[in-house]
Amino acid sequence: MDQLRFDGRVAVVTGAGGGLGKAYALLLASRGAKVVVNDLGSARDGAGKSNAADAVVKEIKDKGGVAVADYNSVVEGEKLIKTAIDNFGRIDILINNAGILRDKSFTKMTEQDWDLIQAVHLKGAFKTTHAAWETFRKQKYGRIVMTSSNAGLFGNFGQANYSAAKLGLVGLANTLAIEGAKYNIKVNTIVPTAASRLTEDILPPEMYEAMKPELIAPVVAYMVHESFNDTGAIIDSTLGFATKAQLFRSNGAPLKKRPSDPVTIESVKENWSKVVDMRGAKHLEKIADVTLELVDKLQEFEERSKLDGDKDSYWTTY
Ligand code: NAI
Repeated sequence: MDQLRFDGRVAVVTGAGGGLGKAYALLLASRGAKVVVNDLGSARDGAGKSNAADAVVKEIKDKGGVAVADYNSVVEGEKLIKTAIDNFGRIDILINNAGILRDKSFTKMTEQDWDLIQAVHLKGAFKTTHAAWETFRKQKYGRIVMTSSNAGLFGNFGQANYSAAKLGLVGLANTLAIEGAKYNIKVNTIVPTAASRLTEDILPPEMYEAMKPELIAPVVAYMVHESFNDTGAIIDSTLGFATKAQLFRSNGAPLKKRPSDPVTIESVKENWSKVVDMRGAKHLEKIADVTLELVDKLQEFEERSKLDGDKDSYWTTY
C-alpha cells in the first residue's frame, strides 16, 4: 500500500508534550503534516506550567519536520487554533488529547477536583473544537479525534470526575459527527491504554512496558487521514490491537398487557427481566432509529391487542 501522508495538512495536537500526544505529533510530522505541539506543561494533576512542547518540536525539526510549540491551556482553545492559523495559515486536523487526573474516591472528591477535570477534558475539547469548527465548515474538511477512556465507558473506582468527562466527550463526538457530516468533518473517539505518566502507577510493570504510545499513534493517525470515512466511531486501542465499541439496546418489553392498561410500579417490576434481557440486543445507528423502533413496537402492540383480544400473551415474542 502507498504510504498514507499528510502533506499540506496542518494538525493541532493538544497535550503533545509527552505521552500519547507526543507520539501522535511525531508520527503526523514524519508523514508531512505541519504540527502545532500544544502543551501547558503541567504536572499530572494539572498544577504548574513548563515548556515540555519545546523538546517535541525540536525532535520533529531535527528529523526534518515542521512544527511549532504552543503553551496555552486547552481551556483557552481559541488560542491554540490561532497558533495554527498564524503559523501555517490553516487547520485540518484536531486531536483533543490533553488530560490530567484528580483521582479520589467519590466521598473525598471536592468540587474543585470535579471542575478542574471537566475544564481540561470536556470544556477544553469544546473550546478547541469550537474555535476550529467554522474553518472546517468553510473549507468542507476537518478531522477531529476526541480522547475518551475505558474509565468513562465502564467506570473505574476513584475516577468519578474523570469518567464523567470522558464519557461526555463521546456525547460531544456523537453530535458533532452528525453536525459535521455534510461538511466532510469526521469526528471520532479514541480510547487508548498506554504507558505514560498518567498510568505509571496504575498499570502493572510488565504491561506498562508493552503498552507503548507508538502502538496507538498509527490508529489515531489513520483516523485523521483524508481517506478515513468513518465518523462517530469509538475506537479502543492498545498493545497493537484495535476494537470498536458501541452502545447496545435490548429489545425491550412492554410494561403492560393491553394498550388500555396502566403502567404501574408493579407492572414495571413484573416485566423487568424482559426489559434488561440483552439477548438479541441491537446497536442503533442514529437517534431517528430509536424513534422508528418505538413506533414499530407501538404499532405491533396495537395490532396484537386487536388480534388477541384479552389474552395475556401479546408480548411473548419480546
Ligand atoms: P500524559 O500526562 O503523558 O499527557 C497529557 C498531556 O496533557 C501532558 O503533557 C500535560 O502537560 C498536557 N496537559 C494537561 N493539561 C493541559 C491543558 N490544560 N492544556 C494543554 N495541555 C495540557 O498522559 P497520556 O497518558 O499521554 O494521556 C493522553 C490522553 O489520553 C489524556 O486525555 C488521557 O486522559 C487519555 N487516556 C490515557 C490513557 C492511558 O492509558 N495512558 C487511558 C485512557 C485515556
